[in-house]
Amino acid sequence: MFAGIDFSAGDLVIEYGPGTGAFTAEVARLRRSGRAIRYLGIERDPAMCRFLNRRYPELDIVCGDVADVAALHAERDLPAARAIVSGLPLILMDEGTVERILASSRRCLRPDGVFRTFTYLHCFPTRGAARLRARIAGHFESAAVGRPVLRNVPPALVLSGWPTEAARRAHGYVEADAAAADPMPDYGVTSASRNVR
Ligand SMILES: C[S@@+](CC[C@H](N)C(=O)[O-])C[C@H]1O[C@@H](n2cnc3c(N)ncnc32)[C@H](O)[C@@H]1O
Repeated sequence: MFAGIDFSAGDLVIEYGPGTGAFTAEVARLRRSGRAIRYLGIERDPAMCRFLNRRYPELDIVCGDVADVAALHAERDLPAARAIVSGLPLILMDEGTVERILASSRRCLRPDGVFRTFTYLHCFPTRGAARLRARIAGHFESAAVGRPVLRNVPPALVLSGWPTEAARRAHGYVEADAAAADPMPDYGVTSASRNVR
């Protein structure tokens, strides 16, 4: 989820739905290794929030709804985000909510930032997953699906949206990766679901 992002001191990561903290752990690790990354996590499950706050007292983990990300970001003295990583089940969420989350994400991101989320490989052919890819492509100037991450159980795909084409190139998505970074790669997707936009 953080591949290709060369964080500098003060860069902000916003995480949606940190849950059990798989991505949060990577932020904590990067900080321990000397990257002075700032962090805002938004998790609506109070038990998960308590767990995360105990586990990562050095990180700002708010118990709230990602739909309020713009307000939560604005009420803190935070820069625009270098990366927004989402563990939310976006393909299962209602369309209006996903639209609002993506629009707010775009506003909270730096021009050289990246929005990242993932879907499981077995969900890729579904209409919901195709709609999500189309929505990301609609909100960002550049969008891509990475190579399947087969080490994940179950195997997953990382979806990225960049505010600018230059940001995509800076994150390592260059022409050589074009086939893997096709916004609509054919991992057994039917023509019907590929055409959903
Ligand atoms: C798939 S799980 C977490 C994935 C995470 N990367 C992990 O390591 O556990 C999704 C999380 O999103 C949270 N969530 C779902 N909808 C949310 C919302 N609208 N606002 C904030 N958190 C939300 C859930 O409570 C859950 O903890």
